[in-house]
Amino acid sequence: MATPTLEKQPAADTGHLVTVTFRIRRFDPERSADAYWQDFELRIDPKERVLDGLHQIKWENDGSLTFRRSCAHGICGSDAMRINGKNRLACKVLIKDIADVKDGVGTKPVVIEAMKGMTVLKDLIVDMDPFFQAYRDMMPFLITSGNEPTRERRQSPRDRERFDDTTKCILCAACTSSCPVFWNDGQYFGPAAIVNAHRFIFDSRDEGGEQRLEILNDRDGVWRCRTIFNCTDACPRGIQVTKAIQEVKQALITRRF
Ligand code: SF4
Ligand code: FES
Repeated sequence: MATPTLEKQPAADTGHLVTVTFRIRRFDPERSADAYWQDFELRIDPKERVLDGLHQIKWENDGSLTFRRSCAHGICGSDAMRINGKNRLACKVLIKDIADVKDGVGTKPVVIEAMKGMTVLKDLIVDMDPFFQAYRDMMPFLITSGNEPTRERRQSPRDRERFDDTTKCILCAACTSSCPVFWNDGQYFGPAAIVNAHRFIFDSRDEGGEQRLEILNDRDGVWRCRTIFNCTDACPRGIQVTKAIQEVKQALITRRF
């Protein structure tokens, strides 16, 4: 019987690939106490995301490169990092938008480092525990009194609209770790915690607003904000973070929310 021949596959068309340098801040406390920069040259489709470039390096060049990611679609918030000096989600930044590609070559390196103001554990991974503690301190759950209702807690569309923006937070920490006040004093609760307090303070069904406002009236609370707007610029969900912080300040003054 004749041996079946495999159909010859056409060579992959790589004409669309460009050469780009990823310059990554590396840190491995098991090897050295000092961080250092390392360059990787990639052949990659410029329409790919920075996260794809990091995967390519990890799978093809250096398996020890360490970073967090999960959904790869801007939903889970786990791959926030500093890209060309700004906090971004690596899965939402296209290489063509930041590498300034000319004649098939990126004229600028893509500079990637861990978020500022947080302890770096390894490469691009920071310690998120203090961030999530500040979030938990805001009691991010519905607080009510009285008996359990026998039917859903109704709310008008207008009341729901009041806190719609702050429901969109994915807890990526891009806002908090772009805040100069937070860099200088890690005790500040930070924008993300205030955003999540706002989500419940302005919910007409919730009864814990006064408690949360008292927590935010603390020396590490909302008055630390200097209205710099870095947080709003950094937020990948487009949340008006500074506006939310201002509304919490206003509620503290007027006690109306
Ligand atoms: S407010 Fe925006 S930047 Fe801050 S943690 Fe939430 S999603 Fe991330
Ligand atoms: S990997 Fe989930 S937001 Fe980027």
